[in-house]
Amino acid sequence: MLRIHPLPDLLISQIAAGEVVERPASVLKELIENSLDAGATRIDVQLEEGGVKLMRVADDGGGIEADDLPLALSRHATSKIATLDDLEQVATYGFRGEGLASIAAVARVTLISRTRAAPHAWKITQSDTSLTPAALECGTVVEVRDLYFNTPARRKFLKSESTEAAHCEEVLTRMALARPDVAFSLTHNRAVKKRLAAADLDRRVRDLLGEDFPAHARRVEVEAGPLKLTGLAALPAYSRASRDEQYFYVNGRFVRDKLLAHAAREAYADVLHNARHPAYVLFLTLNPAAVDVNVHPAKIEVRFRDSRGVHQFVFHALTRALAQPVAQAITMPPATHSTFTRQFQQTLAVEEPRAATAAYLEFAKQAYREPDEPPPAAQPLGYAISQLHGLYVLAQNETGLILVDQHAAHERILYERLKQQAETGTPPTQALLVPAVIEVSEKDVATAEEQTEALAALGFEVSAGSPRQLVLRAVPALLSGGDVAALLRALLAELAEHPASRVVEARRNELLATLACHGAVRGKRNLTLPEMNALLREMEATERADQCNHGRPTWRQMSLAEIDALFMRGK
Ligand SMILES: Nc1ncnc2c1ncn2[C@@H]1O[C@H](COP(=O)(O)OP(=O)(O)OP(=O)(O)O)[C@@H](O)[C@H]1O
Ligand SMILES: [Mg+2]
Repeated sequence: MLRIHPLPDLLISQIAAGEVVERPASVLKELIENSLDAGATRIDVQLEEGGVKLMRVADDGGGIEADDLPLALSRHATSKIATLDDLEQVATYGFRGEGLASIAAVARVTLISRTRAAPHAWKITQSDTSLTPAALECGTVVEVRDLYFNTPARRKFLKSESTEAAHCEEVLTRMALARPDVAFSLTHNRAVKKRLAAADLDRRVRDLLGEDFPAHARRVEVEAGPLKLTGLAALPAYSRASRDEQYFYVNGRFVRDKLLAHAAREAYADVLHNARHPAYVLFLTLNPAAVDVNVHPAKIEVRFRDSRGVHQFVFHALTRALAQPVAQAITMPPATHSTFTRQFQQTLAVEEPRAATAAYLEFAKQAYREPDEPPPAAQPLGYAISQLHGLYVLAQNETGLILVDQHAAHERILYERLKQQAETGTPPTQALLVPAVIEVSEKDVATAEEQTEALAALGFEVSAGSPRQLVLRAVPALLSGGDVAALLRALLAELAEHPASRVVEARRNELLATLACHGAVRGKRNLTLPEMNALLREMEATERADQCNHGRPTWRQMSLAEIDALFMRGK
């Protein structure tokens, strides 16, 4: 790392200037970023009274040279960039040389630091810039006391202690998700709020957002030329009522970016109900020169040189991750015979005679799980074994038991098929042998007359028979087996509320979703084994078959291990 030096005026004028110390959380963001830039592997944060009375950030990073300490607190002095060229491809969080100076302008700051080569640490305060020796291992401690002591008006705008502390916690969460390899801790009024060991992303997400998130998420790992998207995208079953779990990072920096949020929302559009928000932790990596971080003083916004390309990439990468057909989504365990075998093998001490293992394997095979037919490893969703209350299909696969919500599954398949047909022109229609005369309201008749074109585009041939009757002559072929009257009524209700003057794609898909929902097998319906197996095979072949159009899951897996656990086997 370079020594700290004042930036030339020309460069200063190029840097987005402005307020960065809005509240304690923004102070914390600056301090954690500095620690990470210094190569810290652990960062400990201590807050008192919402961070207003005290905020202390200690790291084990590279430290600051004694001679540089006064410069660290002065405006426009940085060790991170030296030229405009550096600014244009900056890879550190900091680059303005302004963070500490703007904090020191509104609070009492003490800096204690020691580099690896120094015999001891040095301390400096902004009120007394002379250096005094101090005790510290290699690293840096920044203490910020009495935030806004000199600007009481600002202090009045702060919220309650606990609210400010919660904002600080969120800042730490954002940084900690970006750097699972770094250990973090956070205390507020001496109570431990967070304690995070260095880990991998999965573990870190579980520690911060709970076990449920990764359990219902798809791993994203897509690379296209210079662009890379990695992370975890929660399946719609884990959707949220707010945007509180949307973490998007660009080159490791947490950003609130409209373009990226839009690309993500579009990718989820097909599988998520409008009122729900997706949850994700995503990292976009690209050449630093292809993205401008010098847009906003708090660096929370970025500008892409090729925003269209980035949007398309993120949209496609995410769509692909979410749409992964079932076949690839289930990771098959290695083809050992049973859960028993594996558990037994794990609990056996290495020295135990091999013969014992062999004997046990033989026993387990015969006594428990060796079925007459070959194990159903060939199909991810396995083979139907029965149906529950005419609502759920039970199937057996290599891993264990599969439970399918037959209505949700059928709805999803129907929707994808309707969409496919619509994309290639007007869907095939089926003329009714005897036109159906359907009793409706006057309003429905009016809607049908106004929307004849939209109805035709969807495969419905309708005309008015009387002020309260519609005559239906043809319906989409895929739906001809169902209750066509109910289907038409649902469609008219939807069209009355949101007329479709032009059936644009998004709107068309909404209408198709209505059709699929009403066209799919509803309520109880007994299926034969071949019918159930046909449904399973179709699910495997259908994109996004894992969720119905409302984002509910269509199937669930219970592994043998989970079932064994229910009966406390192997305990
Ligand atoms: N925790 C730390 N460990 C080591 N060096 C630090 C630490 N905090 C600050 N510094 C040094 O002090 C300098 C000034 O920090 P400051 O946050 O004011 O500016 P910056 O990080 O360079 O840019 P920015 O204003 O964009 O954050 C840094 O360039 C760095 O050299
Ligand atoms: Mg900084």
